[in-house]
Amino acid sequence: MSLFELTGKVAFVTGASGGLGADAARAYAEYGADVVLFARRKERLEALAKEIEATGRRALAVDGDVTNEDDVKAAVQKAIDTFGHIDILLNNAGVAAAGTVETLTIENWDKSMDINVKGMFLTSKYIVPHMRKQKYGKIVNIASINALLASKDPSLSRHVYNASKAAVRGLTAGMAASYMAENITVNSVGPALFESEMTENTLFKHEAFLNSYNTICPASRPGKKGELNGTILYLSSDASSYVTAQHILVDGGMAIV
Ligand SMILES: NC(=O)c1ccc[n+]([C@@H]2O[C@H](COP(=O)([O-])OP(=O)(O)OC[C@H]3O[C@@H](n4cnc5c(N)ncnc54)[C@H](OP(=O)(O)O)[C@@H]3O)[C@@H](O)[C@H]2O)c1
Repeated sequence: MSLFELTGKVAFVTGASGGLGADAARAYAEYGADVVLFARRKERLEALAKEIEATGRRALAVDGDVTNEDDVKAAVQKAIDTFGHIDILLNNAGVAAAGTVETLTIENWDKSMDINVKGMFLTSKYIVPHMRKQKYGKIVNIASINALLASKDPSLSRHVYNASKAAVRGLTAGMAASYMAENITVNSVGPALFESEMTENTLFKHEAFLNSYNTICPASRPGKKGELNGTILYLSSDASSYVTAQHILVDGGMAIV
């Protein structure tokens, strides 16, 4: 248990208003961390902050856009002013735009790359210096199984999502090499299918996709609520002190079949 203990740590979570980000923030608090909740929808962040504070942990809701440098800079400063340090960065904010290179517009492309990749660059840019100073940091970047796997079915094509999530893995490798000597680990996580706002009205409503997912996936089902948290906690805690530049799939075995 003590290897996973996060008491005294502060976790900065992007996309904390959404499904997987909110779940991870709750898990961080359950393991003892105080949390900074960052995303655009303020009411959701404030409601989650209240919920977490009711459990005895501290929570700071800061609304902003991960693609906006001023928003990110201000949120990091607010976190430092409030807590004095940031120990964990969960880069989780993301969007999954549908489309092929033929159907996507330049605006679609830029928006996805900005949220999924530039957002991680910006949060890291402003948080890594604090981690370097304290010689401690755990950075977890949420990629996707779709960094590797794609579909020939046009209704499931997500070319910019594939590209952006592969970029997350490259960014993870580069940062991991630069910062391990400063006691900062940088790893990525590749979820397969989990129910959230991103998927509930798309993939979970796509009967043919869901049937084939359940048929092909060795687990015969999507991931359940909370099943991503163990991997996130592992990579965010001292249990992974000598683990960096890794990509852990949380996919029920999907990628091996
Ligand atoms: N669900 C899955 O099956 C699955 C599978 C593989 C990977 N993932 C990845 O897991 C991560 C979380 O996704 P989810 O499933 O939890 O989806 P979700 O419920 O739609 O949450 C997405 C989160 O990203 C935030 N976000 C989007 N654009 C933002 C921006 N410009 N600035 C700040 N925050 C922004 C949203 O908050 P606001 O709208 O309030 O800003 C929301 O909190 C994503 O990176 C996704 O690619 C999910």
